Amino acid sequence: MSFEHILVEPQHAPQIALIRLNRPKELNALNLQLMRELRDALKELDNNDEVRVIILTGNERAFAAGADIKEMAGRTTVDMMKIDQFSTWDQIKRTKKPLIAAVSGFALGGGCELVMTCDMIIASESAQFGQPEIKIGVMPGAGGTQRLTRAVGKALAMEIVLTGRFINAEEALRAGLINKIVPTETYLQETVKFAQQIAALSPLAVQLAKEAVLSSFENNLSEGLLFERKNFYMLFSTEDQKEGMAAFVEKRAATFQGK
Ligand code: CAA
Repeated sequence: MSFEHILVEPQHAPQIALIRLNRPKELNALNLQLMRELRDALKELDNNDEVRVIILTGNERAFAAGADIKEMAGRTTVDMMKIDQFSTWDQIKRTKKPLIAAVSGFALGGGCELVMTCDMIIASESAQFGQPEIKIGVMPGAGGTQRLTRAVGKALAMEIVLTGRFINAEEALRAGLINKIVPTETYLQETVKFAQQIAALSPLAVQLAKEAVLSSFENNLSEGLLFERKNFYMLFSTEDQKEGMAAFVEKRAATFQGK
């Protein structure tokens, strides 16, 4: 896979793929082409049986400082509607495999929204999160008002969205936005270690469990419980369920084949 604005390693570690946003001079500002490349790479990795977990990262200074302001500055409402950039984001959201963001430096605007589209977030000590769109006369457009509010609650979400203030990794952890903080020098290695725990499990169970957790954002409780139950029952038709439970009973480690 070769792209202009992202680097893709399908086997960064066994069964773990890495996508690196790669516009370092622009702090990985998310232009339309980068987002389309990201969508295409995710689709390919989702269909690759050798991949069980996907890590999305930037560099030490910036995960991504938002949508590309220079690309957007002259656009009208009609241009924005015709370009329909968020249909690309909708496709990214449909990634079936677990997607882990490894964040260092700035994750702002669309960068913060992209991180929140991922399933889990590992942050370096120097990570900063924010929705500063308000400072350039707009507001979040790729899910910030919705996903941030669900993650951190109304009070802090309002403050972040209405003032544009950044929060650091400590505050993000306290607020429930991220999973953990790791040293800046080793943030990617730590994320790989975290991903390895998931890659060792049944990919079928992981996929259906991810789907069920995400359904809690869309469904009411009764619908969500029903959805969960169906996915739970479905896993009893997999070899991985037989292997996982047999291994427990026989007091040995399970080997999951994704079958
Ligand atoms: N779009 C385009 N270019 C960007 C950018 C962005 N979002 N963020 C940074 N850059 C560029 C800068 O223009 C600069 O380029 P030049 O060297 O050619 O001037 C380069 O990246 C380095 O940036 P700075 O010199 O500004 O670096 P800094 O360390 O002084 O400041 C920063 C870092 C605080 C992140 C600052 O760059 C900044 O405020 N960036 C914009 C953040 C922002 O407003 N993001 C929201 C965008 S809108 C959006 O995302 C909408 C949505 O919901 C989808």
